[in-house]
Amino acid sequence: MSSLLSLLTTTALLVSSAAAQAQIPAFGQCGGLTYTGSTTCVAGTFCQWDSDFFSQCVPGTAPPPFAGPINFWFPFGDSYTSTTFNASSVLPNIHNPFGNPPFPGFTGGGGENYVGYDTETFNKSVIFTYNYAFGGATINASLVAPFEPTVLSLIDQVNEFLTGGVAGKPATTPWTSGNALFSVWIGVNDMAGSYFEPGDRGAFADTLLDEYFALMQKLVRDFVSFSNTFSSCPHSSTAVGARNFLFLNVPRVDLTPLIIQEGASAQALLKSVIADFNTRLASRVASFKASNAGVTTWLWDSNSVFTTILSAPTQFGFVDAVSFGGTGDFWGNNFHPSQAAHQIFAQDIATLMAGSLWF
Ligand SMILES: *[C@@H]1O[C@H](CO)[C@@H](O)[C@H](O)[C@H]1NC(C)=O
Ligand SMILES: *[C@@H]1O[C@H](CO)[C@@H](O)[C@H](O)[C@H]1NC(C)=O
Ligand SMILES: *[C@@H]1O[C@H](CO)[C@@H](O)[C@H](O)[C@H]1NC(C)=O
Repeated sequence: MSSLLSLLTTTALLVSSAAAQAQIPAFGQCGGLTYTGSTTCVAGTFCQWDSDFFSQCVPGTAPPPFAGPINFWFPFGDSYTSTTFNASSVLPNIHNPFGNPPFPGFTGGGGENYVGYDTETFNKSVIFTYNYAFGGATINASLVAPFEPTVLSLIDQVNEFLTGGVAGKPATTPWTSGNALFSVWIGVNDMAGSYFEPGDRGAFADTLLDEYFALMQKLVRDFVSFSNTFSSCPHSSTAVGARNFLFLNVPRVDLTPLIIQEGASAQALLKSVIADFNTRLASRVASFKASNAGVTTWLWDSNSVFTTILSAPTQFGFVDAVSFGGTGDFWGNNFHPSQAAHQIFAQDIATLMAGSLWF
């Protein structure tokens, strides 16, 4: 464990296996965001982190590693959550709990979002956050098309976690059922991209939620190994072991400056479609918990928090409920909350989860 921690704490870890070969001389580069060379320093030197972009071999002995513990957070979602983490680049480490890009990443509304604040400000322990969220995401791109085809849906994001190596608890990411939090904030684009469609919106919400919770079930799934009388081959399914889930419901997208432009009747319709989706989401969360012994869930009611703040914006330090892009605005742009709004969300999530390992 101590050699692992020393890796985690003294070098900028790369997922690529480029490392190992050449020994880097003193003052040569041994790490960094776009660096792909060796990470091994010549004897008598060690790889010292200088910045997200540069680590170098310096004479001396590596300082004692961070004594831990380290906990983990795996968020999934859309631009309300994304920090543009690339799971194939530098992984979360003691110098940057997001791994990449440089903290706090690139966000939908500009500046730091709730993932940044909860990882680094309202955290009650050191958290390595692997943020799989992707801007523009919908739950299933075949059900609600994202704004461009390259967007990774919730299905894609969970599959990236499941098949990209992290799910298997590798030495680089020693998460356990107990120390890992999984979170999902999705639905903004599903609702904004489909509320105006004809047909039974409640039935459509159930279709979306069926797929959403099938993915959650995949994350819970434990190692199963069995053979049956009809086959001589033993079968197994991959262990996953997620046990702690934070769900965030769909916020007041109807109050975004973008949707305000659509007019009052569009706003009213979207508001009611979202409210119905959120009611169904809450009952899915309850049944997911009930049918999975050992699973803990939290549900953050983002919708109510947006309502509370936007009904009395000045009480929360905002100039009004509709301006965007300026100092003191709730909205960072016409579809995303600002950094100041995200700070309030992060604090409220930390309050909801008070007493947990993470916040
Ligand atoms: C993610 O990082 C890998 C390794 O540095 C790089 O090859 C890839 O192009 C990056 N992906 C994106 C979308 O930037
Ligand atoms: C919160 O995270 C930061 C950044 O990783 C870390 O320096 C700090 O020690 C953490 N706080 C606690 C209470 O562990
Ligand atoms: C996504 O939606 C399409 C269209 O309904 C469906 O055929 C497909 O099975 C869905 N994908 C998943 C993984 O649920």
